[in-house]
Amino acid sequence: MNTPKDICQQTINKLCAKNKGILAADESLTTMNKRLAEIGLNSDETTRRQYRELLIDCPNIEQYLNGIILHEETLYQSSDSEKRFCDILTDKGLCIGIKVDQGLSDLPHSSEKITRGLDSLESRLADYFKQGARFAKWRNVYKIDKNTPSHHLIGLNSQTLAHYAKMCLNQGIVPIIEPEILIDGDHSIERTKVVTKAILSSLFDACVSFNIDLSQTILKPSMITSGKQSSEWPNPPSDVSAATLDIFKQVVPNHVASINFLSGGQSPQQASDNLFAIQSQADLPWNVSFSFARAIQQPCMKLWAGESQYVDEARQELINRLKDNCRL
Ligand code: G3H
Repeated sequence: MNTPKDICQQTINKLCAKNKGILAADESLTTMNKRLAEIGLNSDETTRRQYRELLIDCPNIEQYLNGIILHEETLYQSSDSEKRFCDILTDKGLCIGIKVDQGLSDLPHSSEKITRGLDSLESRLADYFKQGARFAKWRNVYKIDKNTPSHHLIGLNSQTLAHYAKMCLNQGIVPIIEPEILIDGDHSIERTKVVTKAILSSLFDACVSFNIDLSQTILKPSMITSGKQSSEWPNPPSDVSAATLDIFKQVVPNHVASINFLSGGQSPQQASDNLFAIQSQADLPWNVSFSFARAIQQPCMKLWAGESQYVDEARQELINRLKDNCRL
């Protein structure tokens, strides 16, 4: 019988297949409603399902993707033709991922946010596994400001991410650990380097204390850029690549299975160009790829605009964005 470790190894092998990435299609209900409102649509369960079907059932996405991260709502939904989304993904050979954190709440007596969901995680993971999920994602958020992120938040978040990762691995689910550093703000790229180093060092210390097998774990970080309101923005891809790799080579252990970057509010083209600049550097110790949401979905969602006659055009745009992120 396959042990959780065997199952995770099969999944990690698939998720690290070269020159493909992961699509994050796991926006929370609030975020999804906001995105749909931006294109003039009222969001309800049906609209969200139709949009997710456009993504999941897009022909040939498996040429560019190893897996898709779903929201819990999508995990249990089916297509118009009543085929479970999970079955569609499995038939395409794609790994099924699931967002398992339950969003942010205020950290008491501070302006910072912590991520909820650890207390109910164990039983939810067992259900998700039964549905077919083989990898998971947990997102922490850090804002760079004069006094943030605090040491307190970095410590708490690192412990939570490592604890979540342990619970996933115990149940045969590959964890994606996502410490997102927001690009909002006027901070310099140098400041982001310092903050990233502190956050990733703390995270990997916590992983050691929880005895996490990093060879079965995926890191989903922000690329190192300046703040979006800084005079340095937009940073040239060569600067993003140099800053990112300088810090990552110092603090990310070589045996981390894969680094799949988030796009974080960069334009689709910026995110692709920066990813390519990072991937093009010689002798990277890890698999390096993407796990973008907005930088892949935004143009396609706009084209679709809730109209079934635009599904083909929107899918073509989805493929264009995916191709641009699989340039190597
Ligand atoms: O948790 C964040 C998403 O999975 C990545 O989204 O590429 O739009 O930053 P993004």
